[in-house]
Amino acid sequence: MVVPGKPDLATVVDHEVEAPPGDVQVQALLAGMCGTDVEIIRDGFGWLPPGRDSLVPFHESVGRVVAAPDGSGFAPGDLVAGVVRRPDPEPCPACAADAWDFCRNGKYQERGIKELDGYGMRRWSVPPKFAVRLDPSLGDLGVLTEPASIVAKAWTQVERRSESAHVKPRSALITGAGPIGLLAALLGVQRGLEVHVVDRVDKGPKPDLVRALGAHYHRDLDEVGEVDVAIECTGAANVLWETVRRASTTVLAGLSGEHGPVPLDPSVFDGIVLHNKAVVGTVNAGLADYRTGADALAAADRTWLAGLVTRKVPLDRFTEALDKHDDDVKVVIDLT
Ligand code: BGC
Repeated sequence: MVVPGKPDLATVVDHEVEAPPGDVQVQALLAGMCGTDVEIIRDGFGWLPPGRDSLVPFHESVGRVVAAPDGSGFAPGDLVAGVVRRPDPEPCPACAADAWDFCRNGKYQERGIKELDGYGMRRWSVPPKFAVRLDPSLGDLGVLTEPASIVAKAWTQVERRSESAHVKPRSALITGAGPIGLLAALLGVQRGLEVHVVDRVDKGPKPDLVRALGAHYHRDLDEVGEVDVAIECTGAANVLWETVRRASTTVLAGLSGEHGPVPLDPSVFDGIVLHNKAVVGTVNAGLADYRTGADALAAADRTWLAGLVTRKVPLDRFTEALDKHDDDVKVVIDLT
């Protein structure tokens, strides 16, 4: 359990949660730690469940089904990940169409983030609609499903825009080589694009992970010329503008957490107008994106995927996952 903004109060409790009838029940394998979880636990982001003073953290999950209702399409032993967001109760036009990732009124809920307990439990459950079946051979690597769903949605946005602009993307720039950037690069390579990844590090596993995909690694954005597509995963204002300058379509998938004014070069805006460029923001993912993300993982080289999971922390020491080590890409919590 965590109290947002109070990392010292993070605890592991022994508490049995009864699964609502009709849910798929899952024995957890791993939960993934991402920047949002750090913001919740350290900086106080997130919303507690109504009437509660703490929250079960984590929204990246993988586990095995232990019980499933008849007709749910799931059976004991299935490898699954849970969907993060739940539609708002109103519902808004987007949520009414099950496109909760485009929720219009902000009344959606998110497991481990907004008003709902997360997947940081040894056993969790979800209604069948919010369970995503995974290739059984992924095993623990299924923990990458949620981040893969985020980049799958980014690529879908790229494809929609490219189609309407009569562009067949051939080159892509990915800024930031964290888990999101690396998975975005994977999906770009799988789509046959020439992929350039820019990050500031020159040590650790990231440069080699990029090269192992057959993509190009750069420490300097100036080494990359014009590209058809960019997926911006840093959120850093200066990187963001230089990315938009280079790409016909840019999807913004990173958050800066920065405040205050930054200098803007107006020629970037002129370029957006004169070249019919698109800049699209994206957060969260819909069911189709989870499927696309899960399929991308299933098609990926297992050794490469395993290289993304750089550290595994036992549940009783889960707060150790908050501290960033130089070589970290994705840190996971062992829930077995
Ligand atoms: C998660 C999304 C979520 C967003 C905002 C991200 O870390 O991957 O599913 O919508 O945080 O809460």
